[in-house]
Amino acid sequence: MNILILSAGTRNKVVQYFKKAFAGEGDVIATDMSELAPAIYEADRHYIVPAMRAPGYIDVILDICKKERVDGVLSLIDPELSLLAEHEADFKALGTTVIGSSYELCERTLDKFEMYLWLKAHGWRCAGSWMDKEKFFRAVDAGEVGYPVFVKPARGSASISINKACDKETVELLMNHEEGLMIQEFLNGQEIGADVYIDMISGEVVSIFTKKKIKMRAGETDKAVSFKDEKLFDLIERFVKEAGFRGQIDIDIFDIGGEYYISEVNPRFGGGYPHAYEAGCDHMKLILNNLKGIANEKRIGAYDEGVYMMKYNEVMIMR
Ligand SMILES: Nc1ncnc2c1ncn2[C@@H]1O[C@H](COP(=O)(O)OP(=O)(O)O)[C@@H](O)[C@H]1O
Ligand SMILES: [Mg+2]
Repeated sequence: MNILILSAGTRNKVVQYFKKAFAGEGDVIATDMSELAPAIYEADRHYIVPAMRAPGYIDVILDICKKERVDGVLSLIDPELSLLAEHEADFKALGTTVIGSSYELCERTLDKFEMYLWLKAHGWRCAGSWMDKEKFFRAVDAGEVGYPVFVKPARGSASISINKACDKETVELLMNHEEGLMIQEFLNGQEIGADVYIDMISGEVVSIFTKKKIKMRAGETDKAVSFKDEKLFDLIERFVKEAGFRGQIDIDIFDIGGEYYISEVNPRFGGGYPHAYEAGCDHMKLILNNLKGIANEKRIGAYDEGVYMMKYNEVMIMR
């Protein structure tokens, strides 16, 4: 069983975990557009590939799958998720399974406003969101929402261009400054991260890891602690099933006075996944089983509570 990890970048631990799970079972192959992506050097073999948006990119990836007899492929970056989903049939024809969600779901999660419309239509608690500032101002006048609010790109990531606005003038200024911005109600509560695996064979949610975020830095969780709550596990399971995700996903949730609000979903391994793995949730093994045609047993909450994660920098040296 060979696995191909696309756009490995700096996600060294994810590649290391796959190597552990696949030891004696097959090889781990990684790609990146840069030779200076440290994670590719953790893999058994690696390929430097064109930029994701370059013409012919997907053919290069399909060729690697053919040459390396790749059984499963996944990407670690958002814009590539839809691309893989779009070409699922081409991969299948080579015997390669795309480990990820459908094209429609990947596209929806990329767009925070589309996601909001879906959450609202399906009755999930979430932050009120507006693309049209005049509609938002009318909602403020009607007493439906108050300040502060967050103004952020609907199709953004990594906390780029995210601003908190405390008054109408600031909202006006921000909204006039850039296209594609969304105004979002401020969620004043405890931030939670969930790493979830949905079995690719049975379609069941088989593993959930949840953590409270203690400190954020540059758009990433810097410190966090694992915890368990049956009510949250139940909510995640119902939400994931209704939405139809598959494979690995990462969900941002807020706990506001004991009620859980869904903030966003990234249908891939999130940056904080090492916390889940080290606490006992080996999702690489679950992927390996699925590639072998084995459905995983449901083991929700199979990890320790009170496990802390503290990020720090590491370097790779090469001559
Ligand atoms: N509506 C909000 N209420 C409270 N905090 C928010 C809100 N929107 C964003 N944030 C803060 O900014 C971070 C990044 O926002 P998010 O919507 O997750 O975008 P990204 O795609 O950049 O991760 C969140 O993890 C949270 O800390
Ligand atoms: Mg986020």
